[in-house]
Amino acid sequence: MAPFPEEVDVFTIPHSRMKQLVHKYCDMLSSVNFSSDFDLEMLLQNLCNTFAEFKAHEQIENELIMKRLKHKLKALQITNTAVCNCHSDNRLTEMIEFFKSGLEKVTSNPADRINYGKQLRETLEEFTEQFLPHMKEEEEVFQPLLIKYFPYEELKIIKEAVIQKHIEK
Ligand code: FEO
Repeated sequence: MAPFPEEVDVFTIPHSRMKQLVHKYCDMLSSVNFSSDFDLEMLLQNLCNTFAEFKAHEQIENELIMKRLKHKLKALQITNTAVCNCHSDNRLTEMIEFFKSGLEKVTSNPADRINYGKQLRETLEEFTEQFLPHMKEEEEVFQPLLIKYFPYEELKIIKEAVIQKHIEK
């Protein structure tokens, strides 16, 4: 059970979907044969769709949660660098560009695919090592800040809007 009442928990439900997506690409990565053009194309198509979802998730968080939280902390003259720097890099866009560059290599020779696959594996492992703790920080650090600084009724409305936006995306 989530440590916060479900009606004000803005992260757990969207993150369960994001973790499901991580699990899926890790599974695909564990069995992919990079010398196969079919395998590489299937994996990259999945990754393009997955990272588009990650990006939409990040945009929803920025718009509905982080902007409000930053504003609230600023009004209270509280400095929190984790909140300020959340989503500050452009990693998701770079990853999508990297996957697209891989799709252009699908029809090249097996050695090129294997070489790209090696880079893809390393890049994805590095991304995942940051992304999972990032979500944990949102759940364990940012959610308590929201509970502390926002009225309960306002958080309920934010939570509903967050879920609705994820459904619409
Ligand atoms: Fe919930 Fe910023 O990923």
